[in-house]
Amino acid sequence: MTRVLRALAPVLLLALAIGPAAHAAGSGAALTPYKASLRDKHSLQRGARLFVNYCLSCHSARFMRYSRVADDLEIPREVAKRNMLFTGEKIGDPMVAVMTKEDAEAWFGIAPPDLSLVARLRGDDWLYNYFLAFYLDPDAPNGWNNAIYPNTAMPHALHPLQGLQRALPPDEEGGPMRFEKVRAGSMSDAEYARAVGDLTNFLVYMGEPSRPARIRYGVWTFLFLLAFATLAYRLKKEYWRDIHE
Ligand code: HEC
Repeated sequence: MTRVLRALAPVLLLALAIGPAAHAAGSGAALTPYKASLRDKHSLQRGARLFVNYCLSCHSARFMRYSRVADDLEIPREVAKRNMLFTGEKIGDPMVAVMTKEDAEAWFGIAPPDLSLVARLRGDDWLYNYFLAFYLDPDAPNGWNNAIYPNTAMPHALHPLQGLQRALPPDEEGGPMRFEKVRAGSMSDAEYARAVGDLTNFLVYMGEPSRPARIRYGVWTFLFLLAFATLAYRLKKEYWRDIHE
């Protein structure tokens, strides 16, 4: 076992060294920091709705079941059934895309990846910025490009909300890419940014659905230990008082 580990060590070290670089590769744009919040149930509910309406046609989230999403996000089962199930699925089913992998490959050249764990792979900053950074590109096969993920095969699924934007020529300092709106969507820029935040929150939740519960248990465990330590300390003082006298 140790010999195997020793033989693998250089490979592991190399992976560790390349990992972060590979993560950053391919995005020439600066990221606006975004920290997902899992506390806001309404935001997560809005994110789930966006996901079901705009993403599930192409992407699956096989590790999630509709019922789990409904229960975790406090969406009543009846409401979930009405708003999340469109093609005869059952509430206990995993969230599987409508499109088959073969069709997707034929249409996009690459099958849309499962999104259950995408937030762990990409991080919240990356996702938030990705959904803001689609722009029209007449040279791209599907007419879209993305500043964060250049030459992505994904079309801008949320363009009815954001509207259409095109890239402005780069500035002299080589700063981040800038865009110009050419057609308004159904949302203002601020509303769209909030929607993208909701969607990112939901993707982060999917990557680790038990995180809120874990944080809650952690806080209670800490409080318990603190109370117990105080009690133990006072007890000790009480016992030792007689001995000291
Ligand atoms: C019309 C089909 C389609 C729709 C709808 C769609 N996507 Fe995609 N998506 C793709 C394809 C194809 C790729 C692969 C792109 C590539 O690797 O070049 C992709 C890639 C992605 C990636 C990058 C994954 C990775 O790590 O490489 C994310 C994140 C993503 N999609 C999120 C979403 C979200 C969220 C929605 C809903 C708002 C959505 N997509 C809607 C087709 C789609």
